[in-house]
Amino acid sequence: TPTTQDELKALVGRAALDYIGHGRIIGIGTGSTVNCFIDALAQQRERIIGAVSSSEATTQRLRAHGIRVFDANEVEELEVYIDGADEIDPRGFMIKGGGAALTREKIVAAQARRFVCIADQSKWVEVLGRFPLPVEVIPMAAQRIIRQFAALGGTARVRLRDGAPLVTDNGQHILDVTGLAITDPPAFESMVNDWPGVVTVGVFAHQRAHVCLLGTPEGVRTITF
Ligand code: A5P
Repeated sequence: TPTTQDELKALVGRAALDYIGHGRIIGIGTGSTVNCFIDALAQQRERIIGAVSSSEATTQRLRAHGIRVFDANEVEELEVYIDGADEIDPRGFMIKGGGAALTREKIVAAQARRFVCIADQSKWVEVLGRFPLPVEVIPMAAQRIIRQFAALGGTARVRLRDGAPLVTDNGQHILDVTGLAITDPPAFESMVNDWPGVVTVGVFAHQRAHVCLLGTPEGVRTITF
């Protein structure tokens, strides 16, 4: 029986293959769980035409496996988007962006008819907000946005990599916000989206999951929202 977090990620990565039709272009997210999915998909890559990718890291991994990557603008609608999450709640609302790829993830998710979230059971929460909320921001607005979160009782910090602000695939910065309990995710997402300088907030309520494949030691729990 799968017990370690890595085994649970591999389990749901394989299970997501059941949600992929034949001869399609699919959307693919970012992160260690999605990497398990990509590796499983590589074993049957003739099944799909290719993928729209949500990050440079995913693009590289797909290409290494010989899977064709399409620009989002070349494709109108995707049947499915497969991605992980940092947290997912009983309504299919998620926090994403632990891997800093949230903006492109939200774009590709918006293009797909169905979002299939793959996650080990540690990601399941009743209320979003224990995981520090990632927010991609235009650097010149960072300090003002930090103050706006402080007014809500949150503590926001610029994410660093090797001592300097992390720069996203889009050339912007990431704030990580702690101390928030996000009880109304759709309203929260709309509110933060309205703040000047916010590129993307890591709450995925408008682009929520339709299905969650949750990895547990008892097997894959399929939750439909
Ligand atoms: C990437 O930006 C995130 O949204 C990922 O989906 C999230 O961090 C999950 O990653 P893991 O599968 O590595 O936990």
